[in-house]
Amino acid sequence: MFGPIAETIETERLTLEPLTVSHADEMREVLGDPELHAFMGGEPATLAELRARYQRLVAGPAPFHQEGWLNWVVRRNDDIQAVGTVQATVTPGAQGPQASVAWVIGVPFQGRGYACEAAAALAGWLRDHSVAGLVANIHPDNLASAGVARHIGLHPTDQYAGDEVVWRG
Ligand SMILES: CC(C)(COP(=O)(O)OP(=O)(O)OC[C@H]1O[C@@H](n2cnc3c(N)ncnc32)[C@H](O)[C@@H]1OP(=O)(O)O)[C@@H](O)C(=O)NCCC(=O)NCCS
Repeated sequence: MFGPIAETIETERLTLEPLTVSHADEMREVLGDPELHAFMGGEPATLAELRARYQRLVAGPAPFHQEGWLNWVVRRNDDIQAVGTVQATVTPGAQGPQASVAWVIGVPFQGRGYACEAAAALAGWLRDHSVAGLVANIHPDNLASAGVARHIGLHPTDQYAGDEVVWRG
């Protein structure tokens, strides 16, 4: 385990709740649209798969790994509807801890600025917890995700991770 432990993060419209296995039931619905996987690959997880994935995420990496896995469910404050997830994988870096970040908002809840709001809160929290640099890998056609990355101050580099552009900030 490396880096900070996930805490609840509040924004104007959203609450970022540290992920638990019991989130799987409601997230199965939120993340259930196959369209969500256009750039991520794969297909929507079954409830059993999602529970198993959340168990692995909550357990975290093996103790000898210099890595921290931080995951949150993004929940709307007004009607407590879960709308997506954000995550950060924190590792040591030459200039201080680095975080690889990612975001997912369920199809019915997209286009309302939730990803930008949640990602900005995540980035602020990480910087407040001594994370020196952020990285995101984004498919060149994923304009919405590029918009989120730009919103939190990341810039595309000339590096690729597979077919995804590496953004840094
Ligand atoms: C990427 C994603 C999280 C964006 O969620 P969202 O809540 O709809 O995003 P926002 O409403 O905060 O908008 C983000 C930016 O993208 C723009 N945008 C939103 N939908 C867009 C679309 N279909 N095409 C182009 N731009 C779009 C917005 O205008 C905004 O940019 P701006 O700040 O310059 O105006 C969502 O589309 C998603 O979950 N996609 C599938 C998973 C994924 O690809 N995750 C990224 C892995 S790094």
